[in-house]
Amino acid sequence: MNQRNVSRRQFFGATAATAASGFFVAQTATGAPATDFPGERVLTIPDKGIVRVLQFTDIHYFKGIDKYPVREEYLRHKTVGIMRRLVDHAQPDLIVSTGDFWHENPDGRGLEFMNWAIDSIVALGRPWTFTWGNHDHVGDEAEAHRTLEGALHSVYGGTARNGNHTVVIELENGKRVLELLCLNSGRRGVDKEALGYVTDYARARVHKEKVLRMSAFHIPLKQYHDRWVDGSARGLLGEKVYFEDDDGSALKVFQDAGVSAIFCGHDHESDYSAFSDGVELIYGRATGYNGYGAETLDKGGKLFEIDTVTGDYRWKSLFPDGTTWQPGKEEHLDIRED
Ligand SMILES: [Fe+2]
Ligand SMILES: [Fe+2]
Repeated sequence: MNQRNVSRRQFFGATAATAASGFFVAQTATGAPATDFPGERVLTIPDKGIVRVLQFTDIHYFKGIDKYPVREEYLRHKTVGIMRRLVDHAQPDLIVSTGDFWHENPDGRGLEFMNWAIDSIVALGRPWTFTWGNHDHVGDEAEAHRTLEGALHSVYGGTARNGNHTVVIELENGKRVLELLCLNSGRRGVDKEALGYVTDYARARVHKEKVLRMSAFHIPLKQYHDRWVDGSARGLLGEKVYFEDDDGSALKVFQDAGVSAIFCGHDHESDYSAFSDGVELIYGRATGYNGYGAETLDKGGKLFEIDTVTGDYRWKSLFPDGTTWQPGKEEHLDIRED
């Protein structure tokens, strides 16, 4: 599919978004003052008290298409349906899909899968971005970056820095509400390149007043495991924490960069959060029916609500019927079978 051709669905999505929420996207101009930063995208929205960010994760479109194509297509459209309903309930200012958006690159179809995934998120009519998961494979990554960046309503800015980019949400009155560092955690976790990006960004963006800084990426840090084991995490653990190659040293980089909270995906059957060295580590709620785990945790999204006056945030898991879930104060439930 050629992304330059705006489909009928994309056109109506654009019209609805403009009319409904009045957002517009500006990319930091290249060659502008030295404070400008490659890959930073500034999303300007109307003045409001609460800004909403909706996380989808582990959608896994096309998983199993070779073995059970009818079921795969059914589950894919079922996922599209709940994404629409989650957006209707959440009314998000930004959607972030934190990886495993599509499933691999069989027969060289990765870019085709990615384009289908992009179309499905564009149709929601909201600004959106994406962080790479370990199953988001394509043959031509440069082409993928360009397509993601050029798609309708996209605030993805990862072309220059291997998928690492920052989405800034700013009110029309100029108030900077959120700096969201969106990282590529590759196949095995956030690597030196991603962490270097975090450090570079923090050096380039020093503010007189505190601006909420968060980070989104796919593979959890080792401390997700550590905080579950020491009992300080609140929520549900449905499988082991697959922190892959992370050795625990990355967290300090986020801490030093002033990141208050991290949200990830990758493990579909867990939903909890914990504070580690002052940084809140939060699991997303897995969204896609093509991915495993629906028998353990209902599919949904994670909604972050940010108070634009205080800079405080809160989160809850959101379901397509509009109900929500947050762990109780003492909730620490291991629901693994093994
Ligand atoms: Fe996944
Ligand atoms: Fe994953």
